[in-house]
Amino acid sequence: MNIIPDSSAWQKLQQHYNRLSQCSIQELFAEDPQRAEKFRLEFFDLFLDYSKNIITEETMRLLIALAQEAGLPEAIEDMFNGEHINATENRAVLHTALRNRSDQPVFVDGADIMPDIEQVLERMAAFCEKVRGGRWLGHSGKPIRDVVNIGIGGSDLGPKMACEALMAFASPNLRVHFVSNVDGFHLAHTLSRLNPEQTLFIVASKTFTTQETMCNADSARQWLLQAFASKEAVGKHFVAVSTNSEAVAKFGIQSDNMFEFWDWVGGRYSMCSAIGLPIMLQIGPEHFFHMLEGFHEMDQHFRNAPLHKNMPVILALLGVWYNNFFGAQSHAILPYEQALHRFPAHLQQVDMESNGKSVDRQGKPVTWQTGAVIWGEPGTNGQHSFFQLLHQGTKLIPADFIAFCRSQTPMGEHQQKLLANFVAQTEALAFGKSNAEVLAENPGISSSLAAQKTFGGNRPSNSIIADELNPRSLGRLMALYEHKVFTQGQIWNIYSFDQWGVQLGKELADKVLAELRGSRPAGGHDSSTNAIIQHLKQRA
Ligand code: F6P
Repeated sequence: MNIIPDSSAWQKLQQHYNRLSQCSIQELFAEDPQRAEKFRLEFFDLFLDYSKNIITEETMRLLIALAQEAGLPEAIEDMFNGEHINATENRAVLHTALRNRSDQPVFVDGADIMPDIEQVLERMAAFCEKVRGGRWLGHSGKPIRDVVNIGIGGSDLGPKMACEALMAFASPNLRVHFVSNVDGFHLAHTLSRLNPEQTLFIVASKTFTTQETMCNADSARQWLLQAFASKEAVGKHFVAVSTNSEAVAKFGIQSDNMFEFWDWVGGRYSMCSAIGLPIMLQIGPEHFFHMLEGFHEMDQHFRNAPLHKNMPVILALLGVWYNNFFGAQSHAILPYEQALHRFPAHLQQVDMESNGKSVDRQGKPVTWQTGAVIWGEPGTNGQHSFFQLLHQGTKLIPADFIAFCRSQTPMGEHQQKLLANFVAQTEALAFGKSNAEVLAENPGISSSLAAQKTFGGNRPSNSIIADELNPRSLGRLMALYEHKVFTQGQIWNIYSFDQWGVQLGKELADKVLAELRGSRPAGGHDSSTNAIIQHLKQRA
């Protein structure tokens, strides 16, 4: 059922918006000294302050009613119970089973999938111990020092983000690299620093057909064979992570060296599957399992907490509030933690590939806004770049500020300065600085200059804080956003677990490639595309 825009909850929210949009965050705080107490949630060491939003208790009540009307509680159960909620691909959606650390079975089409998951995790752990312990030897008998993960999208972004985030937990004996782009520079530059005798490649691809990944994997194999001139070397220097065992075997990787996952794991939700192999290699099985536990804790919270105390649900509803009522087009993710510098990039795929849809579950064009543009950079760098627009621009950009009480790398006063900026920014965004304050601070200032220096405030943000960045807190944080995306997809009545929008570009690229190669006559496109292809061929 489309609850937008016909449901009573939606209509009440619209009326409520008409009233509340006349209020400011400043006024809401002035009216209610208990505001910070009312709009906060804690879950383990994760602390969410959402009081600096343009909301009242009534707003949250109405948003929760909307989630109820959208059937969110039932939808959550359907996902955890292995229903085929990825309807357009007729698949279950069970990334939650990958990190199910309870002893409860999880069924897909009547079969418990936990034994298979456990078996792959055990194989991964044994493999990682061998590589990390210097017992996995390359073709010339030397231990592995460098691991290159070749993958793209979900087979790259999540593991890369986690490896960066958890660098403090890395083995000093192993360096993990990521090659994703089909631009030859990416692979060539990475390999230029490596010794083939001590390099191990992970070819990570759910389908094992992705053009970029297969092209990079072929070139990496050539590079290896140039050094060894023996096909046997491939077995010692290549492993695969995939659902497609046939294609893996065809590439020359034996089944012993393949780590399996399953079609009920979406690419962008696959970090806890064997796609996490580079993470486990870097931080070791024990820390990897802590990460899974963090994911699992948040999964349980999402499944069991009442909606009004449910962190992913609250974040999702606030997102709907700004997206659909205030007309906000984007949402900024601002981690005040350099190690999380790839976190916004990973969330871009998780969120935008999931909820960037314009057709509802009945196949009809939506008449409401769906997924926001997700973007962001770590603080404090962003402050010296795009924050001007956040503070004084014409656009409303809700933002999540993420920070950790303790630094992974304590050094002098760095952490206090980082946190001071983290706090100051949300305060400045919400409360601004009035024209009167500017005039009082600057006697004799012209009114036009005072206007330039005035901050309107009333710009919403969430503050998300954990004690420290570690495998467990990273797992909780990631699952928080995954379930936020799920919740929004349910409210917008769109399918969040397919990605048909990436297909057309792939098909056309194959056609154009044939034209660039000369194996297909150029032409047959629009005049712009024809001219560009011609130009590229002439100037190659
Ligand atoms: O192009 C989009 C996509 O299908 C993503 O959803 C996926 O994560 C990525 O490509 C990589 O796919 P694969 O793991 O099959 O190579």
